[in-house]
Amino acid sequence: MRHIFSCLLLLIFLQASAQSPVYKDPKQPIDNRVKDLLGRMTVEEKAGQLNLLSGGFFTGPATSNQGQKEKMELTRQGKVGSFLNIIGANETRSMQEIAVKESRLGIPLLFAYDMIHGYKTIFPIPLAEACSWDLTQIEKNSSVAAREAASAGLHWTFAPMCDISNDPRWGRVMEGAGEDPYLGGLVSAARVRGLQGNLSDNTHIMACVKHFAAYGAIEAGREYNTVDISRFMLWNKYLPPYKAAVDAGAATVMNSFNIFEGVPASGNKYLVNDVLKNKWGFKGFVVSDWNSFGEMIDHGYAADKKDVALKALQAGSSMDMETSAMVANVPALVKEGKITVKQLDDAIYKILWYKFKLGLFDDPYKFSDPAREAATMLTPANRQQAREAARGSIVLLKNEGNILPLKNVKKVALIGAFAKSRADMFDFWVAQGTPNDAVTIHDGLKNALGNDVELNYVSGYNTDGTGSDTLMADAIKIALNADVVLVNIGISGKMAGEDRSLAYPVIPDAQVQLLQALQKTGKPLVALVSSGRPLVLTNILPYAGAILQCWILGTETGNAVADVVTGKYNPSGKTVMSFPYAVGQIPVYYNHFNTGRSIPSGTDPGWKSRYRDIPNEPLFPFGFGLSYTTFGYSGMKLDKTIMGKSDKIGVSVTVTNTGSVEGTEVVQLYIRDVTASLVRPVKELKSFQRITLKPGESRVVSFSLGAKDLSFYDTRGNAVLEPGEFRVMVGGNSRDVTEAVFQLK
Ligand code: NOJ
Repeated sequence: MRHIFSCLLLLIFLQASAQSPVYKDPKQPIDNRVKDLLGRMTVEEKAGQLNLLSGGFFTGPATSNQGQKEKMELTRQGKVGSFLNIIGANETRSMQEIAVKESRLGIPLLFAYDMIHGYKTIFPIPLAEACSWDLTQIEKNSSVAAREAASAGLHWTFAPMCDISNDPRWGRVMEGAGEDPYLGGLVSAARVRGLQGNLSDNTHIMACVKHFAAYGAIEAGREYNTVDISRFMLWNKYLPPYKAAVDAGAATVMNSFNIFEGVPASGNKYLVNDVLKNKWGFKGFVVSDWNSFGEMIDHGYAADKKDVALKALQAGSSMDMETSAMVANVPALVKEGKITVKQLDDAIYKILWYKFKLGLFDDPYKFSDPAREAATMLTPANRQQAREAARGSIVLLKNEGNILPLKNVKKVALIGAFAKSRADMFDFWVAQGTPNDAVTIHDGLKNALGNDVELNYVSGYNTDGTGSDTLMADAIKIALNADVVLVNIGISGKMAGEDRSLAYPVIPDAQVQLLQALQKTGKPLVALVSSGRPLVLTNILPYAGAILQCWILGTETGNAVADVVTGKYNPSGKTVMSFPYAVGQIPVYYNHFNTGRSIPSGTDPGWKSRYRDIPNEPLFPFGFGLSYTTFGYSGMKLDKTIMGKSDKIGVSVTVTNTGSVEGTEVVQLYIRDVTASLVRPVKELKSFQRITLKPGESRVVSFSLGAKDLSFYDTRGNAVLEPGEFRVMVGGNSRDVTEAVFQLK
């Protein structure tokens, strides 16, 4: 009997030891696998999971390739858990092999990359894309980008940027969705959905909500600058887009470079632990921005890298991009009892969890397949999607005398160095997009106009913004010979993105002079404005008969511009950032507060909040954009005038296409909470609908507003709904609206 029993025990033992460890067993739930793995890791290996290093190029203060060998060695030792900027199926595969085959526990690496508007097929910049107000398309664009990146071995991108900004001096407004928290939230969530899907296949990647928090509020639009805002502004204006992206399931969140209430965001317990994790219940992991942990020393908040590691962990941040403070100091902090093993385990839990979720423990090379990579990039379908996105992003700002679309023209003059310069078409954030794959405005027009139309081109100015008498004379010459003159003005794409703040977001003088001279030819004049931000267009407004804001449109730029110019596509974009009247007016935005001395229309503006030399209003307001047709708004109705707190109120308006071609209108609904315990903006976007109408067609557009739409945040982040008068405004932009009033009881 005793003998049988010991045999049985031996059998059980042999069977257990033959079984692979729990963390290697794909049939086990992820949480069991993570716990098992944690139980096997040394403190040093755990600290290694907090280390994110750059593969050695591209972004941030220079890193050189000489460090590559050292990085491989660190990988073998389990002292690095993730890389950014190692891309491509082959490269990611070879680095992954080191981690999986040569490190003690074989924990796979995560590969991350900044993919802001496409990987190989480049989509319009996010700011432009948001001007489409087309959430389905935005989600689809991100999923195309994810599919390309995922085929190049990548698991993770640092997007979407959810920073609200009112400042076109800041080069990074190109990465966001503009100035409105509600639209910003919807767009951010769509981008997260498009990138991540449900993260269970090999065509989606993890998103990273950035830069948390309020990075768009940097003073004077100067990159990396100070932020000093109240909790009232934080909750009501800046946090909603991050929250929407987190609610959409974003796997990761990135700390911002700025301070909030005097504490760098990376070490800011209020932002990371209290708001993001506790209040919002964020379940992913937090990564620093490039050396933002280390910069806590420069801010004057941490003494050295050990202090940095302690403060970052105590705040709830975890993965360390490029400071190496965690890997170097966490073991000592644990030994000294300053950090418990439980705290360390909490910090890496979700990093490991997502490595399991992505399937990397079961197939570490799942994303690194050269054949799939070759077949996925820049396909005709991807290009078509990029073209649709690009033309949907263009905003028609002026169209006097219906110059556009071009009609019965035989000779077109195209002027503007940017129309042919591939080097200036793209911004800083173009991942693996190459200008050679892109269609210039010149080439797009040439293709679209065909052989029956004569297209003459000269540069008119230099790409650095300067001009000359000769360039001007050549431009006038071809203009005089044309039926219509298209002038591509603006600033180089290279001026958009990180570290591209500008004190003067304006049209360069040489281009203004060029337009003045061209106007004198008496020819119809169309300005095609290329820029990664709204520029001050006030001084070109009198000279250009039509203005198309073409932003930075990506691979299909020229085809998209040609689609709009020729009328193949009727523009429907509406700007998501106000266009300032003058630089001194910045920041100017639609959802501002009334002051104690705002200007009532038609009264004497003495001793009021105003400029003496310019209007208060922007040149083009938020939500503005024309079409080749016109839309009329009539018969606005509310289904009640008194509403209870748990009721819904119905709002309807009849929109009619009053022009002669089919067109798409973005019908926008704004509210104003007239009296509140914390003052509310004069207008707040709360809903919108994109509708397409045939000439003469009318449609009743209905909206429903409830408690969520009518409430705001107190300074603790709790939604409050207060009774009183509300105004509802509906229109085709934030300025031109019809209004009705109701009471909330
Ligand atoms: C710094 C930027 O602020 C951030 O947006 C980006 O993701 C990182 N660098 C990594 O490149």
